[in-house]
Amino acid sequence: MISRRDLVAASLSAAGFAALALPRLAVAQEAELPLTPACGAPAATTKRQTEGPYFVPSSPLKRDLRGDGSGDILALSGFVLTRQCRPVTGALVDLWHANDSGDYDNSGFRFRGHQLTDEQGRYQFITRIPGLYPGRTRHFHVKLRAGNGPVLTTQLYFPDEPGNARDGIYDKSLLIQIRAAEGGKLGRFDFVISA
Ligand SMILES: [Fe+2]
Repeated sequence: MISRRDLVAASLSAAGFAALALPRLAVAQEAELPLTPACGAPAATTKRQTEGPYFVPSSPLKRDLRGDGSGDILALSGFVLTRQCRPVTGALVDLWHANDSGDYDNSGFRFRGHQLTDEQGRYQFITRIPGLYPGRTRHFHVKLRAGNGPVLTTQLYFPDEPGNARDGIYDKSLLIQIRAAEGGKLGRFDFVISA
């Protein structure tokens, strides 16, 4: 169990990415994220998508959602960036998703949590791959807010999912890059906002 104090300490330090109780996966993810991302022309902002019916406000400050259910482990991380690829510090990234049976927790906060980006604009969650429910392909829900700026509501998708082609709102620009690692999978998605 990770204490709130540990979480706060982890969020304040780049070393926090390696401080969780999944060392090989966390260390591998740390190695994947450079201190500053490459950037060419101004990047396109992350597309907005519908919120869906299951958003719950005031999720806990929580990085590690693994204990909220079963299923394959995924360490999801990346940057929050401006269109000029400048990191956005202290942006709130709120994640919610279904459990591996495809159900949302609508009475509590299982598989619901938020993080604040660190000084390099990075966020990270360690969670489980969500299950499927009728009518949708596999997805995460995200709300992102930097300072007093507008809220970006969107969804993230998984590669090689048969349901992607049949999903009415699936968008390939919202695909997570995923690769296998020891102990789970590593996912990478960078958000771009017009800050
Ligand atoms: Fe959903």
